[in-house]
Amino acid sequence: MHVIAVSNRKGGTGKTTVSVNLAAELAASGRRTLLIDLDSQGHCGLALGLRPHTGQPNVHQLFTNPEARLTTAIQPTPFANLWLVPADPLFDHSQSGQDDYRLKNALVAESLAERFDLVLIDTPPSLDRLLINGLLAANRVLVPYIPHYISVESMRQLVRLLFRIMTRQNRELKILGFVPTLSAEHIRQHRTVNAQVGGEFGAARILPGIRNDIRLAESFAAGKPVRLYAPKSRSAQDFARLGQAVILHLELPVPPASSAIAP
Ligand SMILES: Nc1ncnc2c1ncn2[C@@H]1O[C@H](COP(=O)(O)OP(=O)(O)O)[C@@H](O)[C@H]1O
Ligand SMILES: [Mg+2]
Repeated sequence: MHVIAVSNRKGGTGKTTVSVNLAAELAASGRRTLLIDLDSQGHCGLALGLRPHTGQPNVHQLFTNPEARLTTAIQPTPFANLWLVPADPLFDHSQSGQDDYRLKNALVAESLAERFDLVLIDTPPSLDRLLINGLLAANRVLVPYIPHYISVESMRQLVRLLFRIMTRQNRELKILGFVPTLSAEHIRQHRTVNAQVGGEFGAARILPGIRNDIRLAESFAAGKPVRLYAPKSRSAQDFARLGQAVILHLELPVPPASSAIAP
């Protein structure tokens, strides 16, 4: 099972947008996909038309209750092959416990690899136990970034953190790639920064980007992935390309034709 953490320590770089729309793309390709909303803002649920409410089983209860199970919190979504573990919008980050491997252990102990081909984890920007849990549960990390000059230094810091984790705590973890988001091809700065990121971190690691598109913000408000909300939009095309690139990088086997299960 591939477990992909979508991560960047900066807020507003498109983590949630990429998590939701890439998960939708992979689900639509026939892969059984689980999206875990580790950011307590609860935006993944909203983006899929599922409003979070307090009291519902969620991923954050793992950190406050040793008896809690991830399986109990898995919800179907309106979209085939796509399931969600929602967030607790009232989660208090100071109460995230002591265990850096809580999420990892839940994925393994509850045998989720038998039920899902892919898990995507939307992570919070704060460097706290939740983010570490996301990075230790994952075997791949995907980094959305906005191609501004200022992003490069924060990406260096992030890559240093990732390498520390990859060498000390999670040797399975690999960088799946960097995804330029909110980008405009005609802005020279964006091209320069993407070239710089490619030069520093490996050109092969730059995945197809997601251009600036108001349809993405609209689709979020409508509670649908953009591939369904505006299938002809440029962001729907960009996500289709990103999905294909991820499938190639992960060498995902072609799913059997009968595997498109309705939730
Ligand atoms: N490619 C894009 N084009 C236009 N708006 C975008 C794009 N990507 C993200 N956004 C918008 O930018 C804001 C931040 O994106 P979000 O995915 O929530 O970032 P993060 O999860 O990193 O904080 C949201 O309002 C989202 O709708
Ligand atoms: Mg977010």
